[in-house]
Amino acid sequence: MRRRTDFLVIGSGIAGLSFALKAGNHGKVIVATKKSSVESSTNFAQGGIAAVTDLEHDDFESHIKDTLEAGAYLNDLEVVEIVVSEAPGRVRELIDIGVEFERNKKGSFDLGLEGGHSQRRILHVADLTGAAIEGALVDACEKHPNVTIIEDAMAIDLLTTRKLRLSQEEDECLGAYIFDKKSGEIGTYLSNVTVLATGGCGQIYLYTTNPSISTGDGIAMAYRVGAMVKDLEFVQFHPTTLYDQDESSFLISEAVRGEGGVLMTISDYEEFLKSGESDPSNFSFMKNYDERGSLATRDVVARAVDRELKRSGDRYVYLYLLHLDPESIKERFPHIYSTCLEYDIDITKQPIPVVPAAHYMVGGVAVNKNGQVIRRDNPTQIINRLYAIGETACTGLHGANRLASNSLLESVVFSHRSYLDSIKYLEKIVEIPLEEMPLWDASKYKPIDEKVLLKHDFDEIRRLMWKYVGIVRSDLRLQRAKRRLNLLEEDISHYYWNYILNEDLIELRNIILVARLIVEASIERKQNIGLFYNIDNEKKEK
Ligand code: FAD
Ligand code: SIN
Repeated sequence: MRRRTDFLVIGSGIAGLSFALKAGNHGKVIVATKKSSVESSTNFAQGGIAAVTDLEHDDFESHIKDTLEAGAYLNDLEVVEIVVSEAPGRVRELIDIGVEFERNKKGSFDLGLEGGHSQRRILHVADLTGAAIEGALVDACEKHPNVTIIEDAMAIDLLTTRKLRLSQEEDECLGAYIFDKKSGEIGTYLSNVTVLATGGCGQIYLYTTNPSISTGDGIAMAYRVGAMVKDLEFVQFHPTTLYDQDESSFLISEAVRGEGGVLMTISDYEEFLKSGESDPSNFSFMKNYDERGSLATRDVVARAVDRELKRSGDRYVYLYLLHLDPESIKERFPHIYSTCLEYDIDITKQPIPVVPAAHYMVGGVAVNKNGQVIRRDNPTQIINRLYAIGETACTGLHGANRLASNSLLESVVFSHRSYLDSIKYLEKIVEIPLEEMPLWDASKYKPIDEKVLLKHDFDEIRRLMWKYVGIVRSDLRLQRAKRRLNLLEEDISHYYWNYILNEDLIELRNIILVARLIVEASIERKQNIGLFYNIDNEKKEK
């Protein structure tokens, strides 16, 4: 099957859909998404979207400063300025399509606070902000006559002129091979503009807040056609996911600490109870790590929790809210309250047991300020007609650690910039006739006898990444991970080139590649900064 379109958007989270909605005003858009249209990290976002809207108490300079401080000044200053200053305009567009950010009695936004923000500036819809945004975007795209969302459509690989040996020098993206999960057919999609908006890669780790779609597909696809990838060693671990033996990693939003929630080890908690005092923060281990206590930036808090758990041998630390007004907690965090109840935890009566989990990929496909993908062999050049946006991309906004709630923001700002830039390609459309585009040759492949082996590989990768490439790394652990991943990569490559494709195999091939790239980037980084921490670097720095 061959199909032609003006814009091929891969992924239906906030990044892909906000691009599609605007591009639809200029041409035909196909959004290919590998599960249902709403299945995305976006849909799970709780805290909200950061933007300066309260000019009486806040200003752009503070948001810029907080973003730079959180990112350990490894950020691209120009990108930070762009994102912060364009934020209010993009937030307005979300409101225009029906996102109802919460307001107080006076009618102004009810702004939340999260780690590393010096001001309240997080717009939210209770603790279900992502679902509200995703729902509004899906609705708007479904109503748009030029936008078609195709579900169960999984991109396998990009088609570029260099890959197809149609050119040596200039590179241009022509579209992608897309696997139809229902029919098993692989289609060739030819497009004037291709957009990677496939989200993050949290599923590389055993414990993650990310949904099952987050397997790093966009990073892997881009890398395979020669894109530069950047900052992959900066994996953000969220300090507070609900402790649960079933590995579900339900997020307890940082906004809970923004409203006064306090982290305590089990022994801190016992001491606090014995003391009879009313302020739990004096008993929190976090005061030994950072003057901002439980609301320090995520890199600091996740490392502190990791250290305390290793020191004590406990399985979790507590997030304590019992000093806060129970009715306000229920009203502000209805989703967290009701989900914890399902685990028999009433958060207004009991402390919440929490552990860290992989949450966000700071690095990704290197892009310029218009979201165009940069070439690995020559960073002064781009792959024409190819954009990467959202968590898949590395714009330089986050530096060595993402400031809370800056991700949804980055997605809408860069979707907009990419859309504005990309419409130029409609003036000079891809000239290759559709019938000359190569079809996927499925004839040489045989059926897989034991699909369960793919699941074993997946499980092995996730466990070893958790053990050896986690919050705190070491030279020995990284070398171990590298050796094991090399072996697994050989096996997976054999499967890929000899057997009939299925969803697991496509994802496994991407996961193993991205895992290897994370390990390689970690081995290369010799300085501990932001999210990155290698105990051997610490020794060398001394
Ligand atoms: P996603 O929303 O993940 O969408 C990716 C899309 O790509 C999906 O539709 C997926 O099915 C599709 N896809 C993937 N691979 C393929 C393929 N091969 N072919 C076709 N389709 C594919 N950030 C904030 O700023 N504020 C928050 O409050 C916040 N809370 C969060 C809470 C949780 C639990 C999580 C997991 C993340 C949170 N984040 C938050 C981070 C933020 O939600 C994500 O970074 C952001 O939503 C990413 O958007 P995206 O469009 O890039 O990717
Ligand atoms: C949260 O609500 O804690 C997540 C916010 C984010 O990832 O930015």
